[in-house]
Amino acid sequence: MSDFQRVSTGLHPCGANPVHLDHVATTPVDPRVIRRMLPYRTEMYGNSTSRSHAHGRVGEEAVELAREQVSSLVNGDPHEIVWTSGVTESNNLAIKGAAHLHRAKGNPLMTLTTEHQSVLGAMLELDRDGLEVTVVPVQESGLVDLAVFEAALHPGAVLASGMFVNNETGVIQDIAAIGAPCRARGILPHVDAAQAAGKVPIDLAALPVDLMSFSAHKIYGPKGIGALYAELRPRMRIACQMHGGVHERGMRSGMLCTHQIVEELPLPPVEIQCSVLAEDAIQAAVSDFRSRQTIRGAAADDL
Ligand SMILES: Cc1ncc(COP(=O)(O)O)c(C=O)c1O
Repeated sequence: MSDFQRVSTGLHPCGANPVHLDHVATTPVDPRVIRRMLPYRTEMYGNSTSRSHAHGRVGEEAVELAREQVSSLVNGDPHEIVWTSGVTESNNLAIKGAAHLHRAKGNPLMTLTTEHQSVLGAMLELDRDGLEVTVVPVQESGLVDLAVFEAALHPGAVLASGMFVNNETGVIQDIAAIGAPCRARGILPHVDAAQAAGKVPIDLAALPVDLMSFSAHKIYGPKGIGALYAELRPRMRIACQMHGGVHERGMRSGMLCTHQIVEELPLPPVEIQCSVLAEDAIQAAVSDFRSRQTIRGAAADDL
């Protein structure tokens, strides 16, 4: 009996093989990704920042190729990708990094009520620290009223954070319409794109966004690796939150985990990914569900 079977038999009313439809929470690692990761755990284990020896250069090459792959997914520049451990860290780095750099001015921050805990938690921490945080409500539809949002913008605010695709409701905010008035006032627009990357088109060359957070485990990569897009422009600066090195444009110290980073897949176009997700995954799960008829006591026809 596998570990999964042992746990699910003990805890799940469906027995050893429950239907799990929630790929919003996380996804399994694609076998192609695992094959690509393996050699970087064994023979190609070098420190990717040590360019003085071949081991390091092999790692560096892999890390930089992955950086190009991630940036091309969102039409950014590879130099704008900062590796992190996932969206929680990227959100904290963007929000606290901006707030700390401008702390002396005591400038306020803004966000929406429907954000993920990693955004609200970072904001709460800064609020406890004495910074002013404005949380703008959303409408019944889940969308923010753009007039209300714009009216709430403090001219001296540092950063405004809004989620692209909501992890609970699926609501897609109009990121361009949120980012434009922020930029016009010198406020850094930050976007949590945990649920957007690989699912909706993202063109960072066109979007008025300075900072965007990504995570690999939402799109068939491993847990514990992600990125922060940090636009290259003179006024876009954030303070590093992890001190002790000069990695990642000085924004995030620590040896890079090459074997996690190399997994970035050359993803197919968004339309193909969406149709695969919608058709294959959902149909397979529903037919599996119907064949077993019941889940938690409800009839399959109630679906
Ligand atoms: C919208 C959103 N933001 C942030 C996170 C946290 O991401 P990570 O698990 O990469 O830290 C998640 C994942 O649950 C999410 O759905």
